[in-house]
Parts: sequence; C-alpha cells; structure tokens
Amino acid sequence: MKIGVFCSGGDAPGMNACIRAIVRTAVGAGHEVVGIMRGYQGILDEEFYFTHNLEGKMLMRSVSGISMLGGTLLHSSRCPEFETEAGMRRAAENLEKHGFDAIIPIGGNGTLAGAHEFRKFWGGKIVGCPGTIDNDLNGTDYTIGFHTAVQTAVEAIDKLRDTAHSHDRMFIVELMGRHCGYITLYTAIAAGCEIACIPEAPLAVEDIIEKLENLKRAGKESIIMVVAEGYLEGVMALQEKLTAAKCPFPSRVIVLGHLLRGGSPVGDDRILATMLGHHAVNAILSGETDKMAGVRCDLPMLFPLEDVIKDHRVVPVEMVELLEAVSK
Ligand code: F6P
Repeated sequence: MKIGVFCSGGDAPGMNACIRAIVRTAVGAGHEVVGIMRGYQGILDEEFYFTHNLEGKMLMRSVSGISMLGGTLLHSSRCPEFETEAGMRRAAENLEKHGFDAIIPIGGNGTLAGAHEFRKFWGGKIVGCPGTIDNDLNGTDYTIGFHTAVQTAVEAIDKLRDTAHSHDRMFIVELMGRHCGYITLYTAIAAGCEIACIPEAPLAVEDIIEKLENLKRAGKESIIMVVAEGYLEGVMALQEKLTAAKCPFPSRVIVLGHLLRGGSPVGDDRILATMLGHHAVNAILSGETDKMAGVRCDLPMLFPLEDVIKDHRVVPVEMVELLEAVSK
C-alpha cells in the first residue's frame, strides 16, 4: 500500500512524533509512506517530502530524532482551493496519478472536515489524526499538541505572576483555542489563575468586578485572568470595560498567541501522537476509512469523521466548577 501523510491547518507540537509513528508502523509492515508537503496544498502542487531515494519514499531513518522537535517537518498550510469542488477533483486526480492508496491527514477541525468531504471525490482510504492545540474535536479525550500548549501557557503565566505580584497588578492574558475554552480553562487550573473567561461560560463585567473586589478583601495582591481568544469583543475591550467599571486592580494585557503552538512537545503529547499515528496506520491496513484515530481512557480508538466534526466540543462544567472552587 502507498500511504500519504501530511499536516494541515495550524501546526501543533507532537505532529513530528505522529509522522514518525506512521512511517515506522507502515514501513515496518512492508508498506510505503510518502510525505506530502504543506497539507492539501501539497496534493494540489504534487509536492512531496524530499528523500534520498528517487521515489520519495520515507524510510525508517527519515524520521530519526524528530519526536522531540516542535512544528512539523512536512510544513503545514490552510488551503482555500481544496475547499472547492474543483480543488477536490484535482487533488483526487493527483493522488490517483501518483498511485496513492490511502492518506493520513494530521490536523484539526477544518482538516478533518475537508477529509470527510473528500471521500466523495476519491476512493482511497482516509484515516486522520487529531493534530491541534485547541482540543476541540469530539470523540477523543485529547488532541495532539494540547498538553504542550497548556504547559507553555503555564510557564509563561508563572513568569507573569512574578511581575504581577511585585506591582500588585492584574494581568489579562489572552490564550489561543479558536471557539473552545479548553486551553484557557486547563491553564487557569494548572497556573492558579483567579478568573477564566471562556466562550462556554461567559462572565458579565459586573460579576468579574465583584469577584475581584472579594479577592482583594480576602488579601489577594495580584490577579491573573486568562481569556480565550475571540471571547466576546476581545481582550482590549474587556480591559476597557473593567477599567471603566472601577476595577480594583491596575491591569496590563498580554496576548500569548502563536507562542502556544511552538516548542518541543511534552511527553504526554509524544505518547499520544505515537499511539494515534500507529493506530491510524493499522486502521488503514485493516480496511477502515472516513475515520479519525483518537484516545479514550488511554486506549486508542476510531471515531467516524462525521461525528468528530459535527459540532464544537465544550469544556466539562465540572472543570469550570473546579476553578471556581479553588480560585479564592
Ligand atoms: O487551530 C489552532 C489555532 O492556533 C487556533 O487556536 C487559532 O484560532 C488559529 O489556529 C490561528 O490560526 P492562524 O495561525 O492561521 O492564524
């Protein structure tokens, strides 16, 4: 079998570990893996990962020493042309032309929605892996990159806490996550933040002010408030409203943004990526298609792409309550 692997959409720490597992599993079972560059764009451009053999096959040694590297050696992109019917037809023709039997897209919601739609245009097997820091896909407990993004945010916030404490200030920290509050809420719990503003449980300005006043009365000298990107009118507007409502702490805003997508993946992401890459290959070899490899209670499983992309996953209310209980 000839299997194409690529990364698409926002990159995520752990994508390289996933590629490594795919190559090692497939090549170990006597199959061929070709790296496709820059996601769906690479299918349209017929751009494959450079290897030292003429056929462009990835070998066991092509993926040595990459598990600990951030980013993705195959690069990534968002590809508007692939969202069109003409683009999908051309992609299918190119995969046929190069003799691919299966593809493994590694990416988030947009990537996997594209993969699900693509089954109408191409008859090969498609099993995706969830590669996104956002942890917003249904089915799987975690997506590849989420744990590292939280760890990166926690380390940054630990530093911000030092300066917040010295100046008796509040830091308003915007974190990525698209429409999903997972990164923000989990970071808040791990970093001991006082307030988390997430799309799943929006807070009124008056409620935030009341909480801040209570915290001040309780002896809090500094505050870290984390805010999910795209929350209401955005982090600057939130700061303005809080200041206008006589916020009891002077504040500064920081947007951590793409910083969360970089860096060496933490162990949990490397393990998850390895498990899911391996599972995706085995699924393809046993005839599965239109699925995503995911994890439930530490075990790899397959989920229909249709279910994975249906609607946005929301954070568990228990975790919102947990933050509330300990941020006193
Ligand atoms: O999906 C991953 C993600 O980092 C989101 O958290 C964020 O909204 C988006 O990608 C940013 O995308 P881009 O890098 O294209 O600006």
